[in-house]
Amino acid sequence: MTGDTNATGMDTGKGAIASSVIDSEEARRAQAAADASENLPASEIDIESMKITQHHDKYTAEDHEVWGTLFHKRMEQLTGEGSDVFLSGAKVINLHPDHVPDLSDVNRRLNQCTGWSSHGVPGYLPAKAFFAFLAQRQFPTSIAIRPKTQMDYLPEPDIIHDVFGHVPLHADPVFADFLQTYGKAALHTNNPMHTERLARLFWFTVEFGLIHEGGKLKLYGSGLISSEGEGHHALESPKVDRRTFDLERVCDTAFEIDHYQPILYVLESFEQLRDAMQTYAERVLEEAGKAETLSPVG
Ligand SMILES: [Fe+2]
Repeated sequence: MTGDTNATGMDTGKGAIASSVIDSEEARRAQAAADASENLPASEIDIESMKITQHHDKYTAEDHEVWGTLFHKRMEQLTGEGSDVFLSGAKVINLHPDHVPDLSDVNRRLNQCTGWSSHGVPGYLPAKAFFAFLAQRQFPTSIAIRPKTQMDYLPEPDIIHDVFGHVPLHADPVFADFLQTYGKAALHTNNPMHTERLARLFWFTVEFGLIHEGGKLKLYGSGLISSEGEGHHALESPKVDRRTFDLERVCDTAFEIDHYQPILYVLESFEQLRDAMQTYAERVLEEAGKAETLSPVG
């Protein structure tokens, strides 16, 4: 699955799946706060009000079974074809086939290496709210898991896409810095041209990025990590135009949703991505009068 997308191309949790681990009243309040943040200035977006508790003891035996089955299936491919940064991140945060991850455990481990954390949210977040999380080194995640009957495809993001697919990279200091810088630029710009370009950048890196490692093409984008079909297509299909990463070119490339990706961009290193993002963010934030937010504490 590729994750759900809104107009900006972000999979921000639209169309949440019902789950016993979610307190429906808490979720209702959090969703109302998220919806109400839509027209607020960046400085007034309160991400705390959008978080929900993961009642981990309420995952069912079927939930754990779905997680375990997909974990094994994906790791079979990813052990050889996933980026080393993904694989080592999955170990660092202790993703395990036996049970759906407990975010408090994931966060304790993540915090020690990069200061990132992941937090349950009830469903769709307006784009600026999503960016406000990233700008504070936090990642909003779905905590529900797909039912067994939809094991291979689910249009909505779930904990497999969000935590298995995204969070391992947050344990890497270079990727961690890139993603926060991205969040700051996307949060503070009010220029629709930059918003569109940044959505494309997110799509072709965080969601569908490829990287050269040790002379081989590897997967790191969450849409490729979490989907067997997308992963194989990205590496093997002769129909894919695999282009050398160049930030300007990426930002100028429109993306297509709802089918396998015909164009992908290949990084040489995550430093390349972090450095290109830093340069672009300086420009975006300068224009927005928010250059000071790029300081480490900003
Ligand atoms: Fe995603």
